[in-house]
Amino acid sequence: MIRLTPPDGVAAAAELLRAGKLVAFPTETVYGLGADATDGQAVAKIYAAKGRPSFNPLIVHLPDAEEAEALVTMGPEARALAAAFWPGPLTLVLPLRPGAGVASLVTAGLDTVALRVPAAPLARDLLRAVGRPVAAPSANLSGRISATRADHVIDGLSGRIDAVLDGGACDVGLESTILRPDPAVLLREGGLPAERIEAILGYPLTRDVTPGRVQAPGQLASHYAPGAPVRLDISHRAPDAVLIGFGPVAGDLSLSPDGDLTEAAASLFDALHRADALARARGHHRIDVAPIPDRGLGRAINDRLRRAAAPRP
Ligand code: TXA
Ligand code: MG
Repeated sequence: MIRLTPPDGVAAAAELLRAGKLVAFPTETVYGLGADATDGQAVAKIYAAKGRPSFNPLIVHLPDAEEAEALVTMGPEARALAAAFWPGPLTLVLPLRPGAGVASLVTAGLDTVALRVPAAPLARDLLRAVGRPVAAPSANLSGRISATRADHVIDGLSGRIDAVLDGGACDVGLESTILRPDPAVLLREGGLPAERIEAILGYPLTRDVTPGRVQAPGQLASHYAPGAPVRLDISHRAPDAVLIGFGPVAGDLSLSPDGDLTEAAASLFDALHRADALARARGHHRIDVAPIPDRGLGRAINDRLRRAAAPRP
């Protein structure tokens, strides 16, 4: 896999994507593993590279909100949420227009498609240069920790994809919040706190984030898993565990010494990658994580941690 760097790397990455190749690229949430969403064979390579079960539909990325209406129909809530939060870490699941040209493998045959306009300027430059919708799941092996740095992508997918566009560390660090609007159902907690969506909608969200449900098949109970098992209860510390701290709990490394949830979200996946490397180096068999308050971004952080800690299949 080649590492491309901006500004020159953007045109090269776009050229590769237009030629049906797989290119990982940074968004403000996590690195995506991109393919031309109109090219079924290119999309098929995503599933092969990730080792992902083929029934999981993918998110389609666009450079501007205006381009969404060519692919989907948008009701009043969809329009209001797009106006408020695009570009940004919100994915909307919307009715696909017949003949939109999105490969059926992207939607796994559903009559809806998940759309997102990322906020990272590098992602938008790339999407504009490609000139086609880009399907991209998170750029990690299926079931493993998401990538928030180009090095994470290289560690996980080297030899399986064509290139990574290196834009440094992702700002938000958690995947986008996924919502089906009109009427609104929250399908995945993520980088946009639910409270901010509720402020626009004017009513409390219904949640359908049950692990393993068909509505958001990527929401498997075990996911984001490092090599070493993860434990969230630190009331009985064991000497053979790496501790990820938060706030007053210092740990071997910390998500945020100040107890700041935005900082914790941005550092979560990198901390899991680092804790895993530390566990390997020390011969430790477990990763313990300090408690995180369950509000705002803390809800999405806890969702990812519960999946990292869930029994493995
Ligand atoms: O921040 C993000 O969302 C990142 C960046 C790269 O954009 N992408 C990401 O993709 O997290 P992925 O594939 O790891 O997760 C996509 C989620 C899965 O849970 C999938 O099942 C759900 O989106 N999804 C996609 N299309 C859907 C649809 N039509 N209906 C319901 N859920 C859908
Ligand atoms: Mg993922």
